[in-house]
Amino acid sequence: MEPTSTATCPIHFDPFTSPYLDDPYAVFPTLLAEAGPRYWPELDMWLVARHEQVDAVFKDPERFSAAVAQDPMQAPHPDAAAVLSTGFRPLKTMSNLDGPEHTRIRRHTQVGFSPRRLRAMEPIVRRAAVELIDALPATGEAELVAQLTHPLPATVIFSLLGFPAEDWAMVKSWCGDRMAFSWGRPDRDAQVQIAQDMVSYWQYCEAHVAAQLLDPGDHFTGDLLRIHLADPSTLSVAEITSVIYGLSFAGHETTTNLLSNTIRRLLEDRSRWEAILADRGAIDAAVVEGVRHDSSVVAWRRITTCEVALGDVTIPAGSRLLLLLGAANHDPARFTEPERFDPARPNAADALSFGWGKHYCLGATLAKLEVAVVLEELAARRPSLRLVPQTFSFNPNVSFRGPKQLRVELG
Ligand code: HEM
Repeated sequence: MEPTSTATCPIHFDPFTSPYLDDPYAVFPTLLAEAGPRYWPELDMWLVARHEQVDAVFKDPERFSAAVAQDPMQAPHPDAAAVLSTGFRPLKTMSNLDGPEHTRIRRHTQVGFSPRRLRAMEPIVRRAAVELIDALPATGEAELVAQLTHPLPATVIFSLLGFPAEDWAMVKSWCGDRMAFSWGRPDRDAQVQIAQDMVSYWQYCEAHVAAQLLDPGDHFTGDLLRIHLADPSTLSVAEITSVIYGLSFAGHETTTNLLSNTIRRLLEDRSRWEAILADRGAIDAAVVEGVRHDSSVVAWRRITTCEVALGDVTIPAGSRLLLLLGAANHDPARFTEPERFDPARPNAADALSFGWGKHYCLGATLAKLEVAVVLEELAARRPSLRLVPQTFSFNPNVSFRGPKQLRVELG
């Protein structure tokens, strides 16, 4: 069914350039004012903005498949596809897998995020945060993305996965702009470079899992391999490798951006930061409100498995949906004065930044722990921290949002 003109997006915007990238929250109210999803010809997708409707999609995996969640927004350039074909073989295992297969793999991967594993991670997070914060200059300017919010989640996720510390610099060098490959519009040369890094990273994960298979260590990779060794039919080595590859991405840039966004929002109004300096007990609520107010994932994808009615429209089978999580988090029908950063907000935890339902983010507790620990250590060690007046710029992709740089004044 062709969408009617009234069901077409009422505004034109390019999600990969300014001004949308600088402030998508300026566009969201127009979409929230529509009674239902709107067809967006620019990317041949339907935009879903209202909290109630995004929530309904997340809770109905039968009619809204997650299969497209990681697909490139544009078909890869043939030269990049050729590079990938030389040795990039991840299976669909988590965020882009549906049904009982997803349930089986998720049941096993949950062990990696058990209360026991998370308790074991806390000192690792704190040690890494303290080291990075103490390495900042005593006075003058620092750039917190390069010096704190990018390296910290890398250290945490690589520790969780059991990558040896001596490999971290090499693995980090492959991280590059992987976000751009699936969620952006990189040109041919950038795609080829990213594809080369993806192959290197994938082959590293294969070698890591193969080595651990001989003697699984006390970390997440070891946890999964012990399950495999007890009964190989429950979880294959190829699935474990794919989970490890996916997690090293899922747990990295998302959290870098969440850290940067939250620090930015707390510092841009001094009274917010002073509230934390006065009472460290205020940190947890500030983290939850930070996740709502300036999410590091502003959009996620689904595809309809049949014709569906949503809001005031009927969407054909096989339609790709862009769930605007940032819009849903600022829906005035759900959140009073949604533009206000308010840690006392009673329903901040209703935000959809981590998704909802079967695919609810496995790393949500770990990501929030990382932000809380960084805020605690910044408050203890660098209470006079201030934002430098600056214009923020953002990576050109539809889903992952955080400033490329966050310049602060110390001392
Ligand atoms: C330690 C950091 C993180 C880890 C290890 C992690 C891991 C994961 C995993 C494994 C999934 C797939 C779950 C499944 O399919 O069953 C997932 C989904 C997701 N995560 Fe995370 N994540 C992290 C941080 C974040 C952050 C900071 C955000 C945004 C604020 C985020 C947003 C999401 C979203 C939107 C989904 C998809 C939910 C859905 O499809 O319903 N994640 N995450």
